[in-house]
Amino acid sequence: MNTRHFLRPISQASRFMLGPWANTANASRQISNYTGKTFTLNTGAQIPAIGCGTFQDKEQQEGAVLEALKAGVRLIDTARVYAPRSRYLSSFSTDQGKKAEVANPDYSYDTESFIGTAIQKSSVPRDEIFLTTKLWCNSFHPDDVESALDDSLRDLQTDYVDLFMLHYPCTFARGEDRFPKGEDGLMRMGETTYVDTWKALQEIMKRTGKIKAIGVSNFSQAEVENLIAAGMPPAVHQMEVHPFLSQKAFTAWHKTRGIHVQQFSPLGNMNSFYREVSWSNGRANRGRLLDEPVLHELGAKYNKSPAQVALAWGVNHGRSVIPKSTIPWQIRQNVESVFVLDQEDMEKIDALNADLRFNTPDEAYRWPLYQGLDGV
Ligand SMILES: NC(=O)c1ccc[n+]([C@@H]2O[C@H](COP(=O)([O-])OP(=O)(O)OC[C@H]3O[C@@H](n4cnc5c(N)ncnc54)[C@H](OP(=O)(O)O)[C@@H]3O)[C@@H](O)[C@H]2O)c1
Repeated sequence: MNTRHFLRPISQASRFMLGPWANTANASRQISNYTGKTFTLNTGAQIPAIGCGTFQDKEQQEGAVLEALKAGVRLIDTARVYAPRSRYLSSFSTDQGKKAEVANPDYSYDTESFIGTAIQKSSVPRDEIFLTTKLWCNSFHPDDVESALDDSLRDLQTDYVDLFMLHYPCTFARGEDRFPKGEDGLMRMGETTYVDTWKALQEIMKRTGKIKAIGVSNFSQAEVENLIAAGMPPAVHQMEVHPFLSQKAFTAWHKTRGIHVQQFSPLGNMNSFYREVSWSNGRANRGRLLDEPVLHELGAKYNKSPAQVALAWGVNHGRSVIPKSTIPWQIRQNVESVFVLDQEDMEKIDALNADLRFNTPDEAYRWPLYQGLDGV
């Protein structure tokens, strides 16, 4: 494991603060004409409770996002690198002398352009959409951040994003190669840290207005604390949360810091990628979340599907959810997942927690992801 690049947590001692940290020109953006449920970010902006994810099936994403916009979805999540199906995986060595897979770089991008086209075709005005993308780890050097953002904006056919996130805390070597592999088969790591990148993001946000809020994904608590100490807490932390991995303490900690939690993979191991990729299939190939009897029982009680119950559980906990689907009836169903669950029913779903984490590419990425968190 390459420990050279790790950052020590900075003491809790309250460098954290709640306050008007956002560029005031960017703050308080509301989603025009949106009547669905929203949450308020620490920037003052509103984020819809239900959105749509776009990981995998990139050729189908234009149609899926068009369908979602038609169904009333106004939060779209994408990333510079979103891997397709696992048949496109390529193999990396790990520091433990094993093999690990990552998305094949030839196939692992370009969802942004499909989403940009879908937004254009939809005729939904840009200011009615909360659009999110993420910076990939080969562009974390402070001098590379703005041009990488510009590439995303070009493909998304927009001049700003509502939220720009660091996809992971690890920094890969600079350059065109999204998964830079050395001759030894190991990922080549960068020389700067995510804190350097975070400072660059703050500067770009304040200077350009191309970013309305900044956030992170797949960070540990210590890593988030380092960002708070570096001047600004994230507005959003997008992380793996579903009834099999409730992350109760960590999600509660975010509330105390005013950081909104957004659940990725809100349907747990329904994502086929997790059931195929070697680093998680051992855990993911147990029973599927949506087959859990309690979700069926509650679905019958509320006249909803198990998927809607799982999504409503997240929303009732105060988190936005971004289910991915390419199937129109599922997309429409997912939007209809805002309803109140009785406290006793929330507790029944909470009890499904099994600390099952599926998104664990740490060995290939050579970074000890999620240190101190559940499911590691
Ligand atoms: N930041 C990160 O590192 C990260 C990691 C993973 C995911 N994400 C984001 O989070 C989004 C969602 O996560 P995910 O794609 O991993 O998984 P997910 O949304 O939890 O699950 C997707 C799977 O559930 C199925 N599905 C969707 N709605 C359904 C419904 N109503 N009933 C039955 N099945 C349904 C989909 O089927 P079909 O595909 O057949 O429609 C797909 O197989 C991603 O698309 C991405 O935007 C971020």
